[in-house]
Amino acid sequence: MLFVVLLLFLAVLIWWWTFKFLHPRGFPPGPRLSLPLLGDSLTLGSNIVDGLDKLRIKYGDVVGFYLGPMRAVLISDMAMIQEACTKEEMMDRPMFLPEFRKYLLKNGDLPGIGFSNGINWTEQRRFTLHKLKDFGFGKANLEQVIEDQAELLCQHLRKLSDNEQLVSICNIFEISIINALWQVLTSETIALDDPRIIKINTLLGQFEDVGASPLGFLAQIVPTAAKLADQLGIVKLSIIFNSMEDVCMGAIQSHKADFELGDIPRDFIDAYLQHQAQPESGASFQGEEGISNLVAIMLDLFAAGSTTISLTLTWAVLLLANRPELQKLLREDIHEVTGANRLISYSERTKVPLVEAFILEVQRKANVAPLSLFRQANKDCYFKGYFIPKGTVILPNIGRALNNPEVFENPEEFKPERHIKDGKFSPSPNGIPFGVGKRRCLGETLAKAELFIYVTRLLHHFDIKPENNQPIREIPIPTALSKPYPFKLKLVKRV
Ligand code: HEM
Repeated sequence: MLFVVLLLFLAVLIWWWTFKFLHPRGFPPGPRLSLPLLGDSLTLGSNIVDGLDKLRIKYGDVVGFYLGPMRAVLISDMAMIQEACTKEEMMDRPMFLPEFRKYLLKNGDLPGIGFSNGINWTEQRRFTLHKLKDFGFGKANLEQVIEDQAELLCQHLRKLSDNEQLVSICNIFEISIINALWQVLTSETIALDDPRIIKINTLLGQFEDVGASPLGFLAQIVPTAAKLADQLGIVKLSIIFNSMEDVCMGAIQSHKADFELGDIPRDFIDAYLQHQAQPESGASFQGEEGISNLVAIMLDLFAAGSTTISLTLTWAVLLLANRPELQKLLREDIHEVTGANRLISYSERTKVPLVEAFILEVQRKANVAPLSLFRQANKDCYFKGYFIPKGTVILPNIGRALNNPEVFENPEEFKPERHIKDGKFSPSPNGIPFGVGKRRCLGETLAKAELFIYVTRLLHHFDIKPENNQPIREIPIPTALSKPYPFKLKLVKRV
């Protein structure tokens, strides 16, 4: 009898495993012995980016596998990424840790932009993009805000580098970038040591550390593991999310208290509250759902818009420190426009092709979003003749595409001139650090302005030199985040 029960149990287990973890006919090639829940995690190892590259080398540009319990497809060829990311069927995002969020939509979906789908995503993205594109509303002119923050940061760096002190550059940009965003969202000008900004920075840092650790990564893709790790206090995702949500909600409450709907909006929150009050604004803006969306948008902007920029800037100064000749050429490019007696403005960017080419090459090298943001198939579909079932997670391997030798000659070399043709900035259609299609980076305009303004301000204020004139390592720490090893700089004041 016991034998029969065991046999039955085994049969059910095999049926469940086959049903759940074997791929359907026509699915892209890849590993075929995935474990329940863990999927192919053991094959991938602790550094997901390296692990996935091994799969690409073994199986090609379209690989089917299991990312934890999720059926997934990795796409590594640039043209294929462009095709996949512009397909309507691959426009969605998968759920991302909903169990740790206080504010969800009534149907349990995630609010905001980065991880929302359907009409909610369309309405919220359109509104936010429109307001950011305005380049500032009311008093908070976006370019001015960024210029002020960049100048504040340079003044701070000037103090730090007094008496030829070496300056540790890691984590130096974060607070400044978060502050610029805070100002756009809330129109508050606050000190770099304001406790709310420090809190947001600390929480974002903790979130990144969680994401970069193997356990944290597992927690993100196996919700049960995440809950358990959270309850045991190993991975404090609920505290991180809830504290961030509280900071954002605090700002919304104070705006609700002191903003009259008929007034001119001072900032993004005012504009949102005003839009919400219009009956024709769209269902996703109404009532509590609207406020959940606003909290989530603030969270999305902080999460997507701070580390990406600060890490790119950290790589920019590292690469500059190792290249005094390039610094000279960049300054010459700028001085031709300004006559060397004023700062260059963002609106003049098309006149300085080398600066634009330098920034794009830094982005290629920094590779801060190597797997873009995951997409998800919203219906059964075919891609390059392969069958992709509904719900499959799509990983656009942007990092590989930006380092593909068939597209970028000697990709390991840092060569801004590869983006210049006949003396003009000529970005390759393959340089897509911001992704492609309707879901491409919402902060692209803001990001480009921030990178331009910070880089040109730093070049204006300082000759950037490495510690002891020794070249700094130009390789990232081997984790999923593309962070350089900690380094120090000698910042010699030029003005
Ligand atoms: C160097 C800087 C940045 C890089 C490299 C970058 C890259 C990306 C990439 C690759 C995506 C996914 C696109 C796709 O699915 O096709 C994305 C999405 C997004 N980014 Fe950025 N980003 C940067 C800065 C920013 C900034 C400054 C903000 C806003 C403050 C921002 C907000 C967003 C949002 C909200 C999304 C989700 C868009 C959606 O799902 O509709 N990003 N970004």
